[in-house]
Amino acid sequence: MHLRRPSRGYNSLIRYLGLSVNSACVINSTPMASQPPGAALSKIEKQQFRRICGKFASGITIATVLDSEGACHGMTANSFTSVSMTPPLVLVCVDHRTRIREHFRIGEHFGINILSASQKDLSDKFAGSGYDRFQGVSWYPGKTGVPLLPDVLATIECARVNVVTAGDHDIVIGEVLHADCLDGEPLVFYASQYRSLG
Ligand SMILES: Cc1cc2nc3c(=O)[nH]c(=O)nc-3n(C[C@H](O)[C@H](O)[C@H](O)COP(=O)(O)O)c2cc1C
Repeated sequence: MHLRRPSRGYNSLIRYLGLSVNSACVINSTPMASQPPGAALSKIEKQQFRRICGKFASGITIATVLDSEGACHGMTANSFTSVSMTPPLVLVCVDHRTRIREHFRIGEHFGINILSASQKDLSDKFAGSGYDRFQGVSWYPGKTGVPLLPDVLATIECARVNVVTAGDHDIVIGEVLHADCLDGEPLVFYASQYRSLG
């Protein structure tokens, strides 16, 4: 990968991420475990890290799960990624600070709802706090029981197969059991803002 001449902050970021930059600006990854414990980004480096990661455009999903009493929980997540075709695996990264985290660690299944361009309000609702996120929201139980949202671009139901702790997030990995999709335009997230294609 060819990069512009790195700044000092950039070099620190690269060190934190366990990367090394040679004179030709090629980045080679080294294991995170080789980093000294307690390595942390300063505030400005965090902002730069967010800015850099924000250059990767994503869709937006609502990840859903039931708690041990069968109550619905959901959160807006753009960290959704497909992982494997055989078996079909996907992942979503869940911040340790979220309350929903414990439900993803315990629940046997979780759902992914990929939002369409007209569903920005749902994204905002499932990222906010201080209210029941499912209040006033149409939903239906999928085949596994997880809450699914009507009129989204795609629904995916997963069996949780692994949860890997990585830094301050859990990587929740699921095997896809059921999935469906509609035609339409996606809601896009880029540079910390909602966008649409075209
Ligand atoms: C566009 C967008 C994308 C987000 N993506 C993620 C994500 O991938 N992982 C995550 O843990 N939080 C993400 N968040 C923040 C969570 O939605 C929010 O912190 C979470 O809903 C709080 O959940 P809680 O009420 O269970 O604590 C995102 C927020 C927005 C607005």
